[in-house]
Formats: sequence, C-alpha cells, structure tokens
Amino acid sequence: MQAHAHKLAHTMAAAPPYTRHGMSVISVDPGDPPLAALTRAAQVLAGGGLVAFPTETVYGLGADARNGTAVGRIFAVKGRPADNPLIVHLADASQLREVAASVPPLAQELARRWWPGPLTLVVEARAGLPAQTTGGLASVAVRVPAHPVALGLVRAAGVPVAAPSANRSGRPSPTTAAHVVADLGDAVDLVLDAGPCPVGVESTVVDTRGRVPVVLREGAVAREQLGLATATDGAAATRVASPGTRYRHYAPACEVALAGPGQGATLAAALTRAGRRTGLIATTGAPEGVIGLARFADAAGLARVLYGGLRAAEDADLDVVVVEGVEEVGIGRAVMDRLRRAAA
Ligand code: TXA
Ligand code: MG
Repeated sequence: MQAHAHKLAHTMAAAPPYTRHGMSVISVDPGDPPLAALTRAAQVLAGGGLVAFPTETVYGLGADARNGTAVGRIFAVKGRPADNPLIVHLADASQLREVAASVPPLAQELARRWWPGPLTLVVEARAGLPAQTTGGLASVAVRVPAHPVALGLVRAAGVPVAAPSANRSGRPSPTTAAHVVADLGDAVDLVLDAGPCPVGVESTVVDTRGRVPVVLREGAVAREQLGLATATDGAAATRVASPGTRYRHYAPACEVALAGPGQGATLAAALTRAGRRTGLIATTGAPEGVIGLARFADAAGLARVLYGGLRAAEDADLDVVVVEGVEEVGIGRAVMDRLRRAAA
C-alpha cells in the first residue's frame, strides 16, 4: 500500500514539465519512468518532433527513424555532417526486420548476448529507410538500449528511433540533461531528464556483415568481452572505422593535456607554475592553485566523469585541463580513444 502511494506520488510529481531556455524538460525516475511521460515523448516523436532521452551510455537526440524530415532536423540541430549516419534504437531484436534487409547469424548471436545493452550492430539496411537515417549507406547501425527510460520510450513509440548523441557536433557527448540543454537550447521539443548516464561513454559499434565482428568504434562493451582482444583479432578489426570517427570529436573549448597514470597532479602543478589556469581530472585531489574538476578510481569511473569534467573545464574558463590516462584494457580502451581525440 505504501509502495503504491509512493509510486503514485512520483508519477504525479513527474507529470508537469518545467522549461529551461524555452525547452520542455520532464524529470523522471531512471529506474521506473512514469508511463505518462513516456507516452507524451512518444507523441512528440509521432508528430515528427525531437526528444532527448537518457541511455545507459550518453543522452541521445531521437526522431522517428522512418521520417526523413524529422531525422533531417537532428542533423540541422546538431550541425552534423550529412554523411555521418545515426544509430537506430529498437525495442527488441524482433524489430530488426523493420530496418534490416537481412540479419546474419553473427548479428543474431551478438543481439542475443548483448541486447538490451550498449552494443551497436551494423547490418545491411532495408530498402526504403530514409537516406537521412542511413547517411546514404547500404548499411544501418542498430541497438536495443538497456536504460529503462530509453527502452520505455522506444516501446511507447512503437517505431525505430534514430538517435545520435544529443550534443552539438564535435562537442563532448552529454551525460546529463543539463549538458543537452547547454548545447541544443530550445531546438529540442522535449527532454526526458533521468539524471546522469550510468556508463558515460558511447556504445561499441560492430560490423556484423563479415565472418567475424569488426569493431568500428570502441565503446562501453570492451573488445575482451567480445573475444576480440588478441593481437590477431586486432589486426583483422582495423578495416574501416565508423564515419563518425573521422571527425574531430569530444573536444572542449580549452586545451586538453593527457597525463600518464598517477601523473596528473604533477603535470597540473607544473602548468599552473607556468602561469596557466589549470584544471584536473585525476585519481587524486588537486594541488594548490589547480582547479579539481573530477576524481575517479578506475577506468569505469573515468568513463562516468570524463565528458562532464571536460564541460566543467570550459565553464570554469580554464586554459588547460589535465586528464590522467588509464590502462587500455576493458572500457579503458574507449576512454583513451576519446581522450586522445579530445587532446588532438
Ligand atoms: O551509445 C551510443 O551509441 C549513443 C546512444 C544515444 O545510443 N549514440 C551515439 O550515436 O553515440 P552517435 O551518432 O553519436 O554515434 C554513432 C556512430 C558514429 O560514429 C557513426 O558514424 C556510426 O555510429 N555509424 C552509424 N551508422 C553506421 C553504419 N551504417 N556503418 C558504420 N558506422 C555507423
Ligand atoms: Mg556522437
């Protein structure tokens, strides 16, 4: 009885959206989003609108994947190059038929093992998908998200939902609703705010059209977890990267300096002595004169705080942010990939 009363109170509290910068934001419980909020968001998608929503990785900016005009708005709002295709989010693997021309056994196997979850599979695209969704390619990237809000939304929508990360193109991906609002202002029709994303870096993109999976973008699911971490696998897996990995990415407005494991504080102190306004994202606290932006314990911890920390560096108007690197195993591969791009 008490649990029911609590749930009702939450549902009602979540109902009236508030507005920030003219954008409608609905706060929802990340573990148990109210149906009213999901239905409302689904209606926005059905009307050709854009909804920003949390996934387990980062926030996405969604549109009905079958609606070329709506998907075209995503590109305009993000300032995204037209040849960089989007990830299509599905409610379950059976929905693959709606977007894929064929589902090879490898894709079926990976979908069974990893969905819902942060693994994106590239398969042959079904004819009739708008060119905006596929970037004009013959393939399409798909995943079933694990976050209850994302999954609830694609279920409520009843259609495949095309959604890149909800940042302006070239900026760090958003891991909170505030990041989405900061980048996209009122260009989004509705934001579902469920707090910070649990993983913090994007999904792993894998091409499933060949004999073995080929990693096109490192991400939340590590190569080790896919059985692809040996040297030979690595060599086979460096064919063509995802179109999106060609662009400079994940870059904040200030300089990013990559420090070795455990070396962040020392480097930050030296930069400060050289007269630069310096921030630190590291396993230790900040030395005197350095602005501590985020602390982490391990690679998964850095994944969670990295994008927010880079954005905090900009907000603090720093000259340089020092980020301590982590070992390139597990999710550390994806984190170091993003860090190198940010520091480039
Ligand atoms: O975790 C994620 O993947 C998040 C959440 C929202 O799901 N989405 C995301 O989307 O990171 P986006 O658009 O920022 O990155 C999609 C990546 C890009 O590098 C793009 O080039 C690649 O996937 N991609 C999309 N379709 C592709 C295709 N047909 N072939 C190869 N790469 C593709
Ligand atoms: Mg992105």
